[in-house]
Amino acid sequence: MKTIDDLQVSGRRVFVRADLNVPLDGGTITDDGRIRAVLPTISKLAAAGARVIVASHLGRPKGEPDPRFSLAPAARRLGELLGADVAFADDTVGDSARSTVRGLGDGEVAVVENLRFNPGETSKDDAERGAFADRLAELAELYVGDGFGAVHRKHASVYDLPARLPHAAGGLIATEVAVLKRLTEDVRRPYAVVLGGAKVSDKLGVIDHLLEKADRILIGGGMAYTFLKAQGHEVGASLLQEDQVPTVQDYLRRATERGVEFVLPVDVLAAGAFPDLRAKAPVTAVTTSVDAFPADLMGLDIGPESRKLFAGKLADAATVFWNGPMGVFEHPDFAGGTAAVAQALIDAASPEEGKGAFTVVGGGDSAAAVRTLGFDENAFGHISTGGGASLEYLEGKTLPGLAALED
Ligand code: 3PG
Repeated sequence: MKTIDDLQVSGRRVFVRADLNVPLDGGTITDDGRIRAVLPTISKLAAAGARVIVASHLGRPKGEPDPRFSLAPAARRLGELLGADVAFADDTVGDSARSTVRGLGDGEVAVVENLRFNPGETSKDDAERGAFADRLAELAELYVGDGFGAVHRKHASVYDLPARLPHAAGGLIATEVAVLKRLTEDVRRPYAVVLGGAKVSDKLGVIDHLLEKADRILIGGGMAYTFLKAQGHEVGASLLQEDQVPTVQDYLRRATERGVEFVLPVDVLAAGAFPDLRAKAPVTAVTTSVDAFPADLMGLDIGPESRKLFAGKLADAATVFWNGPMGVFEHPDFAGGTAAVAQALIDAASPEEGKGAFTVVGGGDSAAAVRTLGFDENAFGHISTGGGASLEYLEGKTLPGLAALED
């Protein structure tokens, strides 16, 4: 894989495919981690005299402009972080983009509007995607791939565009790949994996693969209730993917055969309804054992005993990978389990404890959670910008956006 140092960028238009898919509350960015992560690449290119065109997706608009998913707030934030003017084109390949790019001087930066406002970006049809990639290619002379969070997507700007321009990987992709290699090649043991998030169906591939690799798999979040059900527990009104119960039972059986330890919550915080995440009004919640789950309550976080149990299972790990929150961390009443796991990773990594585990937080909600809950990012070995991308890498899949940068 070539790097930026292999490209002659001075005075040339460089298309940077970034992942600026940041969480927004209205027009306000609630976690700018992904913008900060690509900053070194953009700064380096600008300092070398490139005319930098930054492009990204944000959210999942349906192939046409939708103001809720505009990249304008991300472009503003990028300008603040760079301490420089950042031009913004209110289309991706139209008149605004072309004139914005024409107006760039050496060392200047522009952001074009959301790639997914164009149906060609995500099209399954190679010709349609290719036609959009042709139009993107007209904007630039060189391509830098640095949107690690999107490398698992076979999209025009990720997969087809690098085939049309001389290309290289940015520093973020290089770092992310180096970290994930440490989780797949010669991993230090015990290797513990913490998985959370709402749906077990999003994690089937990675669990399947980890059954061959990990020593311990800890399960929290909404997906834990399908595991608990598979073990014969009642889960009240909790999130449950009934159709996945047989698959999960098969995982539990295979784990026993292979000596992989599955660790499930022993207690949860439960309430009568899903909390209002905007008003964040206090909720009446009870701690309930998973052996006596009230039929009318839903589990919304792992409970105090589970937090202790999980921390104990991470304390002597040499490698930890964590993806997915333990509960509805966006509401303060249900953030405690996620915070406890974050703290357990920090403790496992602490050199004072003499253990020094290599800890990786795998993107998406868990990465946003550690920052919004106020943890020091530097206390973790690595916080990935890729949720789905890091999971698919761990599954051993070929990622289109990395394959496209290989040659
Ligand atoms: C992510 O949030 O994981 C990436 O930005 C990819 O987004 P997507 O799942 O909408 O493709």
